[in-house]
Amino acid sequence: MRNIVVAGNWKMNTHREEATSLIDGVLREAGNFGGVDVVLFPPYLFLDMAVQKCRKSGIGVGAQNAFYKKRGAYTGEISPVMLRDIGCDYVILGHSERRHYFDETNAIINKKMKSCLEAGLTPVLCIGETLTQRQQGKTFDILNDQIVYGLEGIDGSFIKKTIIAYEPVWAIGTGISASITKAQEAHEYIRKTIESFTDTEAAGQIRILYGGSVNTKNARELLEEDDIDGALVGGASLKPESFCEIVKSGKATSQPILGRTGYQR
Ligand code: PGA
Repeated sequence: MRNIVVAGNWKMNTHREEATSLIDGVLREAGNFGGVDVVLFPPYLFLDMAVQKCRKSGIGVGAQNAFYKKRGAYTGEISPVMLRDIGCDYVILGHSERRHYFDETNAIINKKMKSCLEAGLTPVLCIGETLTQRQQGKTFDILNDQIVYGLEGIDGSFIKKTIIAYEPVWAIGTGISASITKAQEAHEYIRKTIESFTDTEAAGQIRILYGGSVNTKNARELLEEDDIDGALVGGASLKPESFCEIVKSGKATSQPILGRTGYQR
């Protein structure tokens, strides 16, 4: 069975005061999140505070990126080991903004995946096609490459602990989310692709989130789909009210479903 995950990617937003009240606002509602795995991804600067505040609440905390080396002369970088040391459990890797603005390739992301898994972090591996790639009919080829190269050389026992986030680049921050049909179709493809090179256990257990303009209006119907196991929320995670409402949509859809791919959610 796959627990629904609702994760808030704050990106490069919030100052100390905003971050504090955002965490506090989410914590006030934490008692109503039963059954949903809620994770906050604040900027690095507020990770320690988030970990301290969220302790005992059941809410997870993670970083938006990590370098693949453990320590050393890498000015400006943060290692997976350092993140574990301050109590982070999760890390976002391969977000489209990292791929596009910081030239992260599948090979770099794969190194980061391995080193984060080795450190004991749960990676949220982001994949997704651009608008041009979709218009050229290349969506599935792009997803295939990002999955196969992103997970290359990683054992099935680690793959099932990984979380995938399907985030079509054209849907991120645009207010235009993928249609339910397009999203479910991509999620089904991702699960089948994972099955093709691992095993049915890993494919059945891995959680695949949707991301890209998720809001309080569309969350419920997206999360009702068989192979959509949660949401990676950007803009709408910056207000506790909208983020908590999305978590509650996740809770409302968290009953087991026997998916079209034949795997029980
Ligand atoms: P958005 O961002 O919800 O603002 O579209 C999602 C993401 O980039 O993770």
